[in-house]
Amino acid sequence: MKENAIHVGDALEFLRTLSDECADLIIADPPYSLRKDREFGEGAFMETHGEWLSWCREWLTEAKRLLKPNGNIFVYAIHHNACFLTTFLYELGLVYRRQIIWHYENGWSKYKNSPACHYEPIIWFSRVPSSTFHVIREPYKSTERLKHTITKNGKVWTPHPDGRQAGDVWSFPTLAGRRFAAERTSHPTQKPLSLSTRIVQHFSNPDDLVLVPFVGSGSECVAAIQTGRRFIGSEINKEFVTIAEARIADAKSSPEFFEVATEHACSERIATQAISDNPDRGDAGLV
Ligand SMILES: C[S@@+](CC[C@H](N)C(=O)[O-])C[C@H]1O[C@@H](n2cnc3c(N)ncnc32)[C@H](O)[C@@H]1O
Repeated sequence: MKENAIHVGDALEFLRTLSDECADLIIADPPYSLRKDREFGEGAFMETHGEWLSWCREWLTEAKRLLKPNGNIFVYAIHHNACFLTTFLYELGLVYRRQIIWHYENGWSKYKNSPACHYEPIIWFSRVPSSTFHVIREPYKSTERLKHTITKNGKVWTPHPDGRQAGDVWSFPTLAGRRFAAERTSHPTQKPLSLSTRIVQHFSNPDDLVLVPFVGSGSECVAAIQTGRRFIGSEINKEFVTIAEARIADAKSSPEFFEVATEHACSERIATQAISDNPDRGDAGLV
């Protein structure tokens, strides 16, 4: 398979052509076969939930085969379906790492009989508990407290210069509204580049291979290119392939890391696990 290119066709067929343990990071944002997913076109919609579940088992089984021993797999799992996908990943013998909550305030709500949905779960599994991970840092919330000396267990605590360690609730706005018009394409479920970049940057290493079974508008592929990774991926809908290819071409021609929108405008950067392990740079409890 050619790297940094999209296979036009079915994901399962594509995955079956790849060799064992080729991927450092897999980011899967599958169709859920909800009514809305009819928009994805032919071949992307299953009539029954049972059919969809069997299909998910199949591609997740392939994904496990393709994951390197120290690799990570992230699966977008709308709240309706997160429990099923999590169970499959456990059944495959993968190691549960975390359910990331992608939180946003600016989604649309059509719900009349239940609260508006302000999050999407993203399930993180790996093959071993010590898979690739670069600590995510963001600004301390209580800057006022940092003006005073803080002691912890009798020792003066020094704030980390890059901020506190981020948790598992990630706030990134969806691409709704005028402020994201420049990033938004006509793909109905395009993920923000800010979110895709966080996953790629913190759960893989430069030059790693990122596998994207459901490319859509190409957000994860663009994130891979912009952060110096390689990608391979598949997409069944030719119209979306055209959109993704245009974005990827842009990213290839201007590979510098451009500013991505984050809700709290935090400047995050990679800090190594070694830094967070330094007890004098304690994070515990302080936000
Ligand atoms: C949720 S979207 C991915 C969106 C992507 N993360 C982005 O930011 O644009 C899922 C994509 O999977 C594609 N798809 C659906 N069934 C597929 C299949 N069997 N093989 C490959 N792609 C498929 C759909 O056309 C759709 O573009």
